[in-house]
Amino acid sequence: QSVKDENVVWHPHAVTRADREKQHGHLGAVLWFTGLSGSGKSTVAGALEQALHALGVSTYLLDGDNVRHGLCSDLGFTDDDRRENIRRVGEVAKLMVDAGQVVLTAFISPHRAERDMVRELLQEGQFIEVFVDTPLSVCEARDPKGLYKKARAGELKNFTGIDSEYQPPEAPDVHLEGEQLVTHLVPQLLDVMRRRGIIN
Ligand code: PPS
Repeated sequence: QSVKDENVVWHPHAVTRADREKQHGHLGAVLWFTGLSGSGKSTVAGALEQALHALGVSTYLLDGDNVRHGLCSDLGFTDDDRRENIRRVGEVAKLMVDAGQVVLTAFISPHRAERDMVRELLQEGQFIEVFVDTPLSVCEARDPKGLYKKARAGELKNFTGIDSEYQPPEAPDVHLEGEQLVTHLVPQLLDVMRRRGIIN
């Protein structure tokens, strides 16, 4: 249901994103981590957030497991529910970018269409797609929550990589080898952020 009718009018802010970015000393942006369950999205995003925080950057990490306890607690793992999950997170991330934050998101976000939808929500250069590329066999061997085992046993339906599709990014902004140590991956991400002028 859309509320874009004539009675709902966009209200411009007196303090702009540019004002907030100036105060923070960096730009607002989204680093959108995508990858299979167990690929290391949350671990890498968490380590990057720590590094950014230490540099004085205003950050916030939105993580699938946490968001699904609150904002998206009514959603499951059908294609429609995943789409709605990513739409909500995209809109939240957009608000946070307007607040001048560096937003890190860790969602499987298995479909290209939804990741592209979030890219479209944001301005050029504000959306950085980070593919945490870890082979399914490695994720399954890690199986930190025992979910692959359950999915293989048929106790968990629609599990990404088993009976629900993961569409890898075709041209991610950053392609990480998910089996590398986090200590190698974080500097790569900081480097991209510096080259793009998000942080100094
Ligand atoms: S999605 O596809 O982007 O909407 O998923 P996301 O919000 O990132 O949630 C993924 C986490 O939920 C757990 N989980 C499942 N994942 C995939 N498929 C199914 N069916 C499923 N059921 C529960 C799982 O712990 C995921 O966490 P990560 O951190 O990715 O391992």
